[in-house]
Amino acid sequence: MHETAQRTVGGCRLTLVQGDLTRASVDAIVNAANPSLLGGGGVDGAIHRRGGPAILADCKRLRTIQWPDGLPTGEAVLTTAGRLAARHVIHTVGPVYGRNPEAPRLLAACHANSLALALREGLRTVAFPAISTGVYGYPVERAAPIALDAIATHLDAHPGAHDEVRFVLFDAATLAAFAAALATLACK
Ligand code: APR
Repeated sequence: MHETAQRTVGGCRLTLVQGDLTRASVDAIVNAANPSLLGGGGVDGAIHRRGGPAILADCKRLRTIQWPDGLPTGEAVLTTAGRLAARHVIHTVGPVYGRNPEAPRLLAACHANSLALALREGLRTVAFPAISTGVYGYPVERAAPIALDAIATHLDAHPGAHDEVRFVLFDAATLAAFAAALATLACK
């Protein structure tokens, strides 16, 4: 991975890199899951493939104990990371673009709830993908400012809580969209 942009917000490094999220060596990576929590394609599939069956076993336990009807959009849960370099996986469900007028608020909630969970667990380094911008069809130019603003709001509210929040973006176009959004991120 090569770092391509960075800001400091609330004493935390906010960095953008192009690469494979499953290789990020951080306290937690964030999975763009679906409500079933039973895996899928995209980054969800990559995490389960590389992380192994322990992740799915944790997800099934969460479904049985806490979320029998599935994880609602915008919520976040924590599991083991299995064989991955990361210590944990935070699974969150992004909104499907165009289906729900609440999509911008729900996309922001994915990021805010994932970081609130990381804070509760004392996780200091967290890596996100571009949630909802793949199968769920969210235009990345619209998703990037929502994601970054939600994260900056959390970091400003909790100075010193985290050392790094990183976006690991799979392709150059997604990286460019996030870099443009980071450049215009209002200084809180
Ligand atoms: N590392 C980083 N980013 C990745 C990786 C990876 N290994 N694989 C895919 N991506 C990127 C995609 O290119 C896209 O930019 O993650 C972003 C999110 O795309 P999806 O994984 O399709 O997630 P999303 O759009 O939120 O759709 C979620 O897709 O995989 C299923 O089970 C998942 O039903 C859920 C839906």
